[in-house]
Amino acid sequence: MRTQVGIIGAGPAGLMLAHLLQREGIESVILEKHPREHIERRVRAGVLEQSTVDLLNEIGLGERMLREGMLHHGIQLSFGSGRHHIEFSELTGRAITVYGQQEVVKDLVKARLATGGAIHFLVEAIGLWALDSESPRIRFLADGTEHELTCDFVAGCDGFHGVSRQAIPNGVLSVIEHSYPFAWLGILAKAPPVQDELVYAYHERGFALFSMRSPEVTRLYLQVTPDESISSWSDDRIWSELHTRLDGGDGWRINDGSVLEKSITGMRSFVVEPMQYQRLYLLGDSAHIVPPTGAKGLNLAVADAFVLARALNAHYRNGSGTELERYSRRCLRRVWRAEHFSWWMTSMLHRFPGTDPFRERLQLSQLEYVAHSPAAAKSLAENYVGLPLDWEEA
Ligand code: FAD
Ligand code: DHB
Repeated sequence: MRTQVGIIGAGPAGLMLAHLLQREGIESVILEKHPREHIERRVRAGVLEQSTVDLLNEIGLGERMLREGMLHHGIQLSFGSGRHHIEFSELTGRAITVYGQQEVVKDLVKARLATGGAIHFLVEAIGLWALDSESPRIRFLADGTEHELTCDFVAGCDGFHGVSRQAIPNGVLSVIEHSYPFAWLGILAKAPPVQDELVYAYHERGFALFSMRSPEVTRLYLQVTPDESISSWSDDRIWSELHTRLDGGDGWRINDGSVLEKSITGMRSFVVEPMQYQRLYLLGDSAHIVPPTGAKGLNLAVADAFVLARALNAHYRNGSGTELERYSRRCLRRVWRAEHFSWWMTSMLHRFPGTDPFRERLQLSQLEYVAHSPAAAKSLAENYVGLPLDWEEA
């Protein structure tokens, strides 16, 4: 088997890259280790930045998102003195759309199949060879048998636990990491969202987040300790904790319902530099992880795909390698902005273990400042709605 770009992983990064390349007449093959149903059902992120929405519309994949996604012009911060609205549209001229990651994945898979692009499910990449040659090879397992895909370039879109990053020789990458002393327990509940704006809550018992997926389904998160087991969280315990942390003194109350899905996700910041080795390019979670508080993970994956597709297009159109050389630098500029924003939101909104009155007063002061100063609110808003896709060049 041979193709121009071998793509490992059918998450947002791999699927978006394949679609952008196909539009430019560049051939690719996607290898995905899970079945289609699995990747289309995996509940993860939910907030799309304006640029992600614009890109999906521009490439003709925004139709269902426009119909079913929920356009939001701001968020609310809840802490001691009540809920405070942070206006995005007036402050930045941009907005966000709440549309589940698995819906984006479904739309991209459908488009890939409709256009006849190659996508192989239940096929696991097990190693990369000849990365420093002009014909790197991906070795993969299909039906228990080993095969090889020879490519011009390899796109490692296989998430944090994938094989791509591991294929890079020791000493090439710098790994920069930070861990947080908490995790998120997330649920999907069959309950109508009580309002149409997300609420990020700082509470003495820990952070909580109110979000949604549709007029019938609410998405909620609770800060828990990193070693927490999901089995120690009965539905009753989850609802009780959510009400304690989110409900307001003004009678505002989240709606209860049956729990459709629940899981615990650890939180970390992680970046490798550079995001490239020879003819292998790393995209999305294979190169960087952000804590979810800034809602950036999915959007970063899409931005990496945009930058790499443009660089590969320049290579195939006019033989120019300049854009490919700039890939890592361009992506990392956005990645570090998102890393800082996600760390800042996380640090402002979570309850740290132990008692530290100094830190707690600083967090409350920062929340007050963002809630009451248009200048501080504008900075949060600008980062939350996301930077334009060509920001890396500014
Ligand atoms: P992924 O979506 O992880 O896709 C990688 C794909 O590669 C997968 O389909 C995987 O099966 C496949 N793969 C892996 N190894 C191989 C192999 N060897 N061969 C073939 N295929 C392979 N972000 C937010 O902003 N908000 C959230 O609330 C949020 N919640 C999250 C919850 C969880 C449990 C997780 C794991 C992530 C969450 N994220 C969240 C982060 C966000 O979902 C990711 O940033 C986003 O999925 C990154 O997309 P990606 O395409 O880089 O990677
Ligand atoms: C959602 C997830 C996030 O990480 C976030 O910051 C906001 C919303 C969500 O899943 O809806």
